Amino acid sequence: MMSAKVEALGKKIIHFGEEMDFFPERIRQLLESDWTNPEVLDFLLAASEICRILVKSPADFEMLELVYFGCSPRGNVASNGVDKWLAASLSGQALRDRLRVVSAWTAEHVMAALKEGQHFTVLDLGAGPAPYAFETLQGIAPQALKDLKWKCVDIDAFALAEGAKRARQQGLDGVLEFKRMDFLSLRNAPDSDDTKADFGLLVGILCGMTPEEAVSCLIKIKPFFRSGAELIVPTLLNRAFEEDARVFRVLCNVLGWQLKPKSLDEVREVFVSADYHVNSIFSERADGNGQYAIVHATIV
Ligand SMILES: C[S@@+](CC[C@H](N)C(=O)[O-])C[C@H]1O[C@@H](n2cnc3c(N)ncnc32)[C@H](O)[C@@H]1O
Repeated sequence: MMSAKVEALGKKIIHFGEEMDFFPERIRQLLESDWTNPEVLDFLLAASEICRILVKSPADFEMLELVYFGCSPRGNVASNGVDKWLAASLSGQALRDRLRVVSAWTAEHVMAALKEGQHFTVLDLGAGPAPYAFETLQGIAPQALKDLKWKCVDIDAFALAEGAKRARQQGLDGVLEFKRMDFLSLRNAPDSDDTKADFGLLVGILCGMTPEEAVSCLIKIKPFFRSGAELIVPTLLNRAFEEDARVFRVLCNVLGWQLKPKSLDEVREVFVSADYHVNSIFSERADGNGQYAIVHATIV
């Protein structure tokens, strides 16, 4: 669905200065307001790995791997001017900070539960190759891992295979499980006697949804969790488009990624409408003014 926020951004005149010399002058001029000219897309597809991945498959995990780690499992590297600019941008940094902050928070949360001697099951919905699992597990004492199961779900078989390979390489295949499944399909709704997860991650999913779609998603995933389970859910805020308009001109206007950033109030309302208790909302930035609302919520 076309994003109203992307449409509004498309109408803005955004300055692309001379210092951005990895864009030819003509492309910089077109990007300011005439970005629909096909020359712009042609240039980006020829110049940038991130752009090529994104135009094929928006919200692909591989684009994120390039931003997190500088290279992707298919051997692509963010090495030229446009890719370096995208990866080093405020939005690229926000993605890396989101990974770091959410994982550190989750490690603390999971450690506290494991200390109480409980078996604990985490469900990572739309996990990709499980960057959040690997980052979080670094913060958990190895002796505590015997009581932890971390289940990664995704529809992308390649992402799951990559995650499973990394788990074997790191000796974490006893902790991590990988399952190919569309978690929004009613066909995959769990039976009442299936084991329910204690804790959930939903990262990189709500950012592309309208508030109504986000409410529906949050309601559909509830049966995977026990009553009282807690989730950590980051989602993109309007501030991202405001502070990094040039990046989103490229990613959303030219390449067509229909991101749907929200205000903080809209984010809170989404969770309340889906009947979750919002425990706290924090940010990937220490001062709280980041690009993401990171919601810690409980299923009531
Ligand atoms: C933007 S990536 C996020 C990956 C990872 N969570 C991260 O933030 O690095 C979104 C992932 O969710 C998966 N995905 C999206 N909708 C899904 C669904 N309904 N069921 C299962 N996986 C889904 C995609 O295949 C993709 O790997």
